[in-house]
Amino acid sequence: MVPSMSVAALVLAAGRGERLGADRPKAFVQVAGRALLLHALEALAASQEIDQVIPVLGQNDRPAWGELALQLDSISKLSDPIIGGAERQDSMAAGLAALAADVSHVAVHDAARPLVSPADVDRVVQAAKRAGAAILAVPVRDTIKRVRAGRIVETPPRSECFAAQTPQVFEVGILREALAKAALDGRIGTDEAEIVEALGIEVCVVEGDPGNIKVTDADDLLLAERLLAGRREGSAAE
Ligand code: C5P
Repeated sequence: MVPSMSVAALVLAAGRGERLGADRPKAFVQVAGRALLLHALEALAASQEIDQVIPVLGQNDRPAWGELALQLDSISKLSDPIIGGAERQDSMAAGLAALAADVSHVAVHDAARPLVSPADVDRVVQAAKRAGAAILAVPVRDTIKRVRAGRIVETPPRSECFAAQTPQVFEVGILREALAKAALDGRIGTDEAEIVEALGIEVCVVEGDPGNIKVTDADDLLLAERLLAGRREGSAAE
């Protein structure tokens, strides 16, 4: 019997997003008329490689989620939300713990990335099915410096530098093991790949789209608005 490969997406939305300075948690801030979280959930659900989409919310977000739920008819594959934790890694762990036994791969995505294309989600999931671990990333344009106390300590070759995006996709067992090791080592990764790398497992890099921005501050919100508007005009012209 061919083992079934069910892929779940965890959409991490439990951060407060204080750098945005909004009156509500970042995931619920509107861009192009809908919450960031809704854009992200829709993009993942539109990927043919994703079977199930699970939002991971902050503990006080149930009322906001309830309001959003009125607009949710349009999203297929949606599961009930999970409540996340203090750090991104805790939120990911809560989602991971809630996965059904038949889930073989998990795609972890930032709710703060509303612009990811379903085609890029397809490509990174396919890579993870082949290699066990894969992330979207884009080559950097600037030269990157490692800086400590205001002094450069290293200039890694630019051709080897990429900016990590999400989704980041893993065999479920690999991510569980990475999380266990991170807990043992007291390490908190700023993304999932970091703790998987610490296991000595190779993570495949799939070149993504620079338009898959992470909304962090008010300028990013304006940029996301423009990119989404451009996309709508593009599809209207087709
Ligand atoms: O803080 P940062 O920009 O890295 O957050 C990336 C994503 O992780 C956001 O979508 C945020 O909602 C999520 N997050 C989370 N739980 C936390 C912190 C961040 O789900 N405790």
